[in-house]
Amino acid sequence: MPEPAEIDLERVICRLADLEAHGARGFKIGGGDWPLRGFVVRCGNEVRGYLNRCPHAGHPLDLIPDRFLTADRALILCSSHGALFEKDHGLCLAGPCAGQSLSPLPLLVLGELVLLACEAGVTTPAVAPAAAKPA
Ligand code: FES
Repeated sequence: MPEPAEIDLERVICRLADLEAHGARGFKIGGGDWPLRGFVVRCGNEVRGYLNRCPHAGHPLDLIPDRFLTADRALILCSSHGALFEKDHGLCLAGPCAGQSLSPLPLLVLGELVLLACEAGVTTPAVAPAAAKPA
């Protein structure tokens, strides 16, 4: 494990203990107009990270901050139109984007800290423009 002085503090998302309250937590890393907006979710003994953008209409999943899960915490819920995603791989199981997936973010867990892994950029990737409709 790196020494505390070697940890890139800009990439620290939260402590593992911070996930206990809701089972998931949103974060923003980076500055400018397009900081990386994501969330982390407890998945058994592991933690998964995803872009906070629903594949259906591109909305953030949490209308109420840090509320990413169903009441029983079994699934990720998009509050906008009710899409349900499994936590392990972000696959949509039901809703308007069934069969599509959340965009995963690589994480690093160092002791009690959850960090965005070095290979991840700190801006939100642009959404591909919709294909032009034929005239
Ligand atoms: S934006 Fe998530 S279900 Fe529509």
